Amino acid sequence: MEVRKSYLGNGTNLFSMVNDKGVRLDVSDFGARIVNLVVPTDTGERNIVLGFESSEDYTTQDSYIGATIGRVAGRINSGRFKLDGKTYQVQTNTEAGHTLHGGAPSFEGKIWQSQIIRTEDEVSVIFTLTSPDGENGFPGNLTTSVTYSLNNQNEWTLVYQAQTDQTTLYNPTNHVYFNLTGDVETPIDGHELTVVADQFAVLNSDGTVTGEKRGVNGTAFDFRTAKSLKDCFELANDAQKDLFSGIDHPFFLSHEKGADAILQSPDGKVSVEVETDQETIVIFTANFGQDKMNMRGKTLGHHGGITFETQAAPGAIEFEDFGEIVLRPDQVYHAKTTYLLKF
Ligand code: GAL
Repeated sequence: MEVRKSYLGNGTNLFSMVNDKGVRLDVSDFGARIVNLVVPTDTGERNIVLGFESSEDYTTQDSYIGATIGRVAGRINSGRFKLDGKTYQVQTNTEAGHTLHGGAPSFEGKIWQSQIIRTEDEVSVIFTLTSPDGENGFPGNLTTSVTYSLNNQNEWTLVYQAQTDQTTLYNPTNHVYFNLTGDVETPIDGHELTVVADQFAVLNSDGTVTGEKRGVNGTAFDFRTAKSLKDCFELANDAQKDLFSGIDHPFFLSHEKGADAILQSPDGKVSVEVETDQETIVIFTANFGQDKMNMRGKTLGHHGGITFETQAAPGAIEFEDFGEIVLRPDQVYHAKTTYLLKF
């Protein structure tokens, strides 16, 4: 196992973790993000996540790709919430006047402190950041860490920890996009997806949750047995899928034994199994429509990737049964997600 450090531009670094099986996980202190995840196959290496080649591309094109998201992933309706009887108004940054991903800029735009840890069977990079009291309107000095690890069992693991000195909200996630073909120009339509979830959150047209948990049965979002994404995208008359021209929804996990979600490449050569201690996975199928991005010398288009944003469901501060995102000074936040790579 080894770790190499290189430059990503504008004072930011890239850390390349390589395991004994030939897997390479590249992460950056810019946004504590994943940049590349390269796996070997019998037809050559594949970079199975979306990412740019310089920090500048993240700033000019899309700063959320692969990043650690916080303080609160997803939308907070009107940027308003109540904590212990006090109303807070945090920075809003969507057209509809909501707070997306903690306001902007937030974690994704920061240069995090980094530390490399090596053991015989695992390498890790620990990123740490202090978000000051009042940042984007959120209370409390929040000390956070995100640890990216790669081991020889081909598991990429993410561990989050945080503490605050005042009661606040905390609901981080990672905004990795997978495309297991290794080609950003091939839409993910031919991938097979399994999500062990009986219910998803219904959304309003502005992306906020309505508060309704709906059964997946009979909808485009029934992935309880493996199904091609094409079958979801092409199902007729599914209003929730049509509203976003794809998936941009929280799935409430059943947490049965084994993986919570599985993604398989169209040729069956690569798969990723997601296991998390979080209650929800927000799946976003890069519904970028006509907005194209330049990535690694190619054009990333509609449905060019798929996220597995493990977290408490957006709307948790409004709707009790959506999860718990209040963090108090006497608590230590802890969350873990593992992506098992098979190739
Ligand atoms: C997702 C969110 C999408 C979109 C995306 C960033 O987490 O659900 O609506 O905002 O982040 O491009």
